[in-house]
Amino acid sequence: MNSSLDVLQALSPSAEAPVAPADPIAAVTHPDPYPWYRQLARTRPFHYDATLKLWVAASAAAVAEVLDHPDARVRPPGQPVPPALAGGPAGQLFGRLIRMNDGPAHAALKSIVLRRLAGLDLGLVRVRAHALAAGLPRMADDDAHEATRWMFTLPVLTVADLLGLPFERDADGHVPTRVAGFVSTFAMAMSPLATPAEVEAGAAAAQWLTRWAHDCAPAAPAGSLLQTLSQDTALAGIDAPTMIANAVGLMIQACEATAGLTGNTLVHLARTGQLPGPADPVDAQVAQVARLDPPVQNTRRFMAADAILCGQPVRANDAVLVLLAAASHDDAGRDGAAAAARPWTFGAGRHGCPGDALAQVLAASTVQALLSRGIRPARLADRVRYRPSVNARIPQFSAQP
Ligand code: HEM
Repeated sequence: MNSSLDVLQALSPSAEAPVAPADPIAAVTHPDPYPWYRQLARTRPFHYDATLKLWVAASAAAVAEVLDHPDARVRPPGQPVPPALAGGPAGQLFGRLIRMNDGPAHAALKSIVLRRLAGLDLGLVRVRAHALAAGLPRMADDDAHEATRWMFTLPVLTVADLLGLPFERDADGHVPTRVAGFVSTFAMAMSPLATPAEVEAGAAAAQWLTRWAHDCAPAAPAGSLLQTLSQDTALAGIDAPTMIANAVGLMIQACEATAGLTGNTLVHLARTGQLPGPADPVDAQVAQVARLDPPVQNTRRFMAADAILCGQPVRANDAVLVLLAAASHDDAGRDGAAAAARPWTFGAGRHGCPGDALAQVLAASTVQALLSRGIRPARLADRVRYRPSVNARIPQFSAQP
């Protein structure tokens, strides 16, 4: 297997060093932000960025401290839902997600979701993903188009299947992909970069997804995630709309970040020129990419009270940008136990991702399925750009000339 240094060099797009990112938001979609992140973690582990009007946590220690702080919340005080989504079905769905809530309601549901996701048989997940991949026809000759379509489709369909949502295959045995389209539309509407038209489409998607999950829940097969979540939440006194929203939420959480992990792994394969094999299995390559070219580069916290954070006095309402990607590249966080721990891209603390192991299996299955369909990573990576985003690093492959 490659050393981290080899992989880092391989991930660097060219010998010519690109201009450093202007700020931590620009870093998300920069061709090679990692030397800059490393320097930031070393020299400015926790600082105030007056231009962005955000505190920035960059070292592994600072990131851990912010994510563990009891007053560091996932939403700004008094704004449970972004104003663009408020008052409609997209806002209702958003406001019920555990990802977007703190306190006792979050804790009760989180422990149920954690337990049920931890109980998944990941070998079976691979088998299900493989079976769904077999039902996705190749639609275009162009590798870029096909890779992009699969990155955003196969992981979401697999989660829908694990939930126990029904797929009626057509006469040719093809799996319908509509649900993945709705999930991706909703995920896009949640971005602060969403246009009014995208927000409107997100509302329709939220309505469709919620109704579908609600209508299918009573018939969800025994042992499926939707059935077990219904059972556990009913016992815990959690209402049905919240349960349904969070079942849909699993598909939403699986969408963009897993697409990014899949895409970044394809870029990695192209740049190292090493296709997965017995000596370097795809799972190991996905795990390396999760650390070294992570799909979720940052997350945010909002202070609910005045506090001392990383030795600095911060005020209620202050926002903190938590640079997961910088923590991943922090030399001080890379040795020993910290290196063995799960990748920073999955967050940490109360809101840490409960789908980390599942996500890596989904990305590995998608990469494997694409390679089996004849996608050549080398043809994808010469002209990689990244989708506009403030936190997710998702390659946008261009059609071959
Ligand atoms: C590569 C793929 C993924 C990445 C990088 C990722 C990353 C993250 C991160 C960073 C958070 C925490 C955000 C924060 O603390 O502000 C999170 C939360 C969450 N993720 Fe993932 N995730 C991925 C895939 C998945 C999948 C496949 C699922 C489940 C099907 C999932 C379910 C969740 C849930 C339910 C939460 C909310 C947890 C909470 O707020 O307590 N994620 N994820």
